[in-house]
Amino acid sequence: MWNGKPAPWYKKRRNLCILIWVSVVVLLIIIIVAAVVVPNAGKDDNGGKQGSSPGGSGGGKGLDGISPDSIPKGAPSWLNPFVWASTDDFNLTYTDETVGDLPVMGLYTDWDDSARANGRVPALKDPWGDYSKLPARGVNVGGWLSLEPFITPSLFNYASVLGIVDEYTLCRYLAARCEQVLENHYATFVTENTFKEIAEAGLDHVRIPFSYWAVQTYDGDPYLFRTSWRYLLRAIEWCRKYGLRVNLDPHGLPGSQNGWNHSGRLGAIGWLNGTDGNTNAQRALDMHDRLSKFFAQPRYKNIISHYGLANEPKMTVLSVPGVLKWTTDAYNIIRKNGVTDAIIVFGDGFRGLENWQGELQDLSNAALDVHQYVIFNENLIVYNHSQKVKFACEGWTQQTLQSMDRSTGYGPTIMAEWSQADTDCAKHLTNVGWGNRWTGTYVTGNPAGIGDFTEPLCPTQDRRCSCTEANADPSKWSSAYKKFLRMFAEAQMTSFEKGWGWFYWVWDTESAAQWSYKKGMAAGVLPAKAWEREFNCKISDIPSFSDLPEYY
Ligand SMILES: *[C@@H]1O[C@H](CO)[C@@H](O)[C@H](O)[C@H]1NC(C)=O
Ligand SMILES: *[C@@H]1O[C@H](CO)[C@@H](O)[C@H](O)[C@H]1NC(C)=O
Ligand SMILES: *[C@@H]1O[C@H](CO)[C@@H](O)[C@H](O)[C@H]1NC(C)=O
Ligand SMILES: *[C@@H]1O[C@H](CO)[C@@H](O)[C@H](O)[C@H]1NC(C)=O
Repeated sequence: MWNGKPAPWYKKRRNLCILIWVSVVVLLIIIIVAAVVVPNAGKDDNGGKQGSSPGGSGGGKGLDGISPDSIPKGAPSWLNPFVWASTDDFNLTYTDETVGDLPVMGLYTDWDDSARANGRVPALKDPWGDYSKLPARGVNVGGWLSLEPFITPSLFNYASVLGIVDEYTLCRYLAARCEQVLENHYATFVTENTFKEIAEAGLDHVRIPFSYWAVQTYDGDPYLFRTSWRYLLRAIEWCRKYGLRVNLDPHGLPGSQNGWNHSGRLGAIGWLNGTDGNTNAQRALDMHDRLSKFFAQPRYKNIISHYGLANEPKMTVLSVPGVLKWTTDAYNIIRKNGVTDAIIVFGDGFRGLENWQGELQDLSNAALDVHQYVIFNENLIVYNHSQKVKFACEGWTQQTLQSMDRSTGYGPTIMAEWSQADTDCAKHLTNVGWGNRWTGTYVTGNPAGIGDFTEPLCPTQDRRCSCTEANADPSKWSSAYKKFLRMFAEAQMTSFEKGWGWFYWVWDTESAAQWSYKKGMAAGVLPAKAWEREFNCKISDIPSFSDLPEYY
């Protein structure tokens, strides 16, 4: 009691204690909120993505001079730099202008095509000339705007019961969080330094895989719509800065053109196949209509050297005439929209290069794209090192020459994917949870075991097959293994330079990013100053590698 009335609550000792604790907690919250929010003051005024800017990648940088009021209320995230995870090298002045219905937001008005990747090649502003005399030397920035589990295993680190095996299942699971997870990846996995290093390594072209959701999404697609678009545009501008020419590569088409995980969705092919096959084929043409209107702008004339139609359409199961007709339709749309100079690239569809003789030969300035690997083929992965180098040298030279000749193959041919991979041992390389051919642990989950490889397919094909050495820290590799890797690369480059050139797969993986190309050159795995070199493929020079334990 207090003066005969009930004591006010704050006079009670127990309540006082609570009050003190509550005050301390409130004070702490205020301090934390102030520390997190105040440096970003104004950033969240326009709604959308609260607090999603990861630190350290340029989010919020450069916004000081921009008034949040200049962004209309309700502007979508791709027009609102206040919610972007990275603002480096973007024009942050709001515009809702589009070309081909695609936003120009983020681009600076002026551009400069004077840069030259290296002394072997012309500056961007000057014509490249004949690719059969000066083949492209390029690399893919894969696993960036189109995810691949083996390139970024950390993004696929989930309990297997969740079934997260591709971008589709990942974003369906993450739902609203997909935006933050993917944008953080876009903002950090590939940066300006990536392109600087690519040019320093002696390369002159970059193939950039992206997928249809950069442009459009449909029917409850879980994919992240459009965010990758501005990262694609910024990557092109960074290429420009270092004199690198660009090969645009649509890696995922509506419905999926191959049913592989790297198309976005593992499973049935729904492009030119199945109930919605024609709808999806038309959607893919609509995508090219918009993309080609956009890339017909003068600023892209010198830098987009290659314009791809569809990565790896699986023509071994699709209707060949259907794919050929779609290819011709896409080609006509793109040329009509004013993309006149870029080489239009279509995939070989795994049909065998001889089958392209006489097909699509009336398309001018087009090229057939062949992807060469030894590790996805049970007859090639078993080759020992001497055989792999010999095959890369002889087999692929012969195939390239056959394809380049219009009387025996299509004609102009590029190898827009190849690698030094000797094994399929990398984590998630075959698929999340499938094991590998090398050790005979490739199990697809098909009840009848169809498609499984349960016998080891390393060269000895016995219990000695192991992934330990191949997956070891590169600094632990034997000098003989490094010699093999280097010869294998040089043999392939020699073969592919009999065509219109090559694009290595892939510039970085998460683990390779820690092992920079500079260390690779220092260690003798990679040729330094690639542009100054002639590659060598003399069969007589191939050692038997008998100094090796068979692997490595
Ligand atoms: C930035 O974008 C705005 C809007 O499109 C444009 O008016 C301006 O010229 C651009 N700034 C520069 C420096 O290119
Ligand atoms: C998944 O993609 C990898 C490359 O990232 C490829 O090697 C593999 O064959 C694909 N697997 C399936 C089942 O799509
Ligand atoms: C073609 O589509 C049908 C119907 O959706 C599907 O069952 C089949 O698996 C698809 N074919 C391929 C090769 O994916
Ligand atoms: C590699 O295979 C070839 C062909 O079978 C064989 O002649 C050669 O001896 C093998 N090399 C080694 C080191 O086993």
